[in-house]
Amino acid sequence: MDRLEIKKIVEELREEQLAEGDILIYLLHRIQDHYQSHYIPAEIGEMVAEELNVSPSKVYEVLTFYSMFATKPRGKYIIRVCTSLPCHVPGGREIVEFLKKKLGVDFGDTTKDGLFTLEETGCLGLCGVSPVIMINDDYYGDLTVEKVESIIENLKGGESR
Ligand code: FES
Repeated sequence: MDRLEIKKIVEELREEQLAEGDILIYLLHRIQDHYQSHYIPAEIGEMVAEELNVSPSKVYEVLTFYSMFATKPRGKYIIRVCTSLPCHVPGGREIVEFLKKKLGVDFGDTTKDGLFTLEETGCLGLCGVSPVIMINDDYYGDLTVEKVESIIENLKGGESR
């Protein structure tokens, strides 16, 4: 992504008459979505600061405050596991253990092939269908270890097709 593209997105967001603080958040989302590794490179953060006329530390503060943003490359698929109590009790603990073992990573880590990043999250608002995980923008509920395994295998299969 270059400065021109950032400028264009800022113009679009300004046309929507969003507050400046919201523009920063929406802009960072759009930039992050642009990168397959779901992160915002440091030099882009600096361009954002210049474009919005805010300090680089302000951008950095936002990037580090919200867990949905990352400043280092992540996997193509970001698996967020809800570890709040209602999800963690009925089968959720087993799912966490399974995912860590299956992917060979801990929370916050990315698999060596760059496909999966495992993250922990608080309640996703879907406690009625717990346990719940989110992969990129998709939610999966009523999970069992077997269902999670098939989701992961499907994603891997899609990669080798
Ligand atoms: Fe997991 Fe609410 S506790 S979605």
